[in-house]
Amino acid sequence: MIRKRESLYYGDYLKIDDLTSLQVTESSKVGNDAHDETLFIIVHQVYELWFKQILHEINSICAYLSTDKLKDQDLAVCNDRLKRIVEIQHILLQQLQVMETMKPMDFLEFRDLLTPASGFQSVQFRQVELLLGFKLDSSMKGPVLGRLSENDQKIITETSNKTSLFDLVEKWLIRMPYCHNSQYDFWQEYSKSVQKMLAKDKQIISDNHLLSAEEIKFELSNLTLTSQSFEVLFDSEKYESQSKRRLGQNAMLNALFIFIYREQPKLAQAFNFLNSLIELDANFTTWRHRHALMAHRMLGSKIGTGGSSGHEYLKRSAEKRQIFTDLYDISSFLIPRSCLPEFPETLEN
Ligand code: HEM
Repeated sequence: MIRKRESLYYGDYLKIDDLTSLQVTESSKVGNDAHDETLFIIVHQVYELWFKQILHEINSICAYLSTDKLKDQDLAVCNDRLKRIVEIQHILLQQLQVMETMKPMDFLEFRDLLTPASGFQSVQFRQVELLLGFKLDSSMKGPVLGRLSENDQKIITETSNKTSLFDLVEKWLIRMPYCHNSQYDFWQEYSKSVQKMLAKDKQIISDNHLLSAEEIKFELSNLTLTSQSFEVLFDSEKYESQSKRRLGQNAMLNALFIFIYREQPKLAQAFNFLNSLIELDANFTTWRHRHALMAHRMLGSKIGTGGSSGHEYLKRSAEKRQIFTDLYDISSFLIPRSCLPEFPETLEN
């Protein structure tokens, strides 16, 4: 039986009264109203709402990837949701411009009242990092957990024990059938093409009369490094002992295969998925850099309210927090289409 519902009212559904009563400024509490503090609060609150939506999307993508066999239609849903996160990130980036309409002198009106509260304590931001695959190693545990309430520490510890998107993507890549195909050793063919390409490059460098002997030596030593990195990729023992990658060899090779043949209908969805992961990772890094610049502009060389070195700390953390770096590096192993082996027939149907 369908239950009769009361007619819904906009303000009740969206809890507008609750929402608009949540902007309580510290400056008004000390009787010295700082006009821009309302903007500061609203911008942070809007960020937190978007973080909530991002977590909702990441959790659902992780749930799909946790199944033993990811169906094509499920991968399509994951792609739509990753794209949604990427669009939200564009808004997150733009919001910094709204924040920057507040000038450093206006921030100083209330900044000291905020100490020791800080973005360090954004639990949802930390959850996003952890669910994507950032590891809370021993060097991070103190600085991150030490600043949080007991309840928030519990939430972070629980999140860090969950299987991350990175780990699920790696397992999904390993399950793909492209590495070992008994009827056709694809990677042997690929290696031959790579050797041909490198030999051609060597010839081009050696024959280049515009380069000095010193420059030729330098270019050739770079080529040797490229050749060595291919060797490591194709040799499981070398990969195990020499590679510093987080993705294992099979996952890396399968990702490379998807990148090479991304136009094949069978692989288009998988390619879009990996490409969106790279975009998502790059957008977070861009946000961190932009946020560090904003902190520099706002604070100069002052320390943060959370006690860090301020923009210096933020700049360093932008470099260290990339997660899907190995996917960026796939480009190092691409070769021109004209040199590619045939797409394996056994995979065509
Ligand atoms: C006037 C504007 C802002 C300034 C001057 C600023 C400054 C800082 C500083 C100096 C830190 C380092 C920790 C500390 O010592 O406090 C920090 C961390 C952080 N802030 Fe901001 N921030 C601003 C706005 C925002 C906004 C709008 C957000 C959006 C949520 C945000 C999110 C974060 C996060 C997540 C961290 C931790 C980053 C990490 O540990 O990698 N901040 N901020």
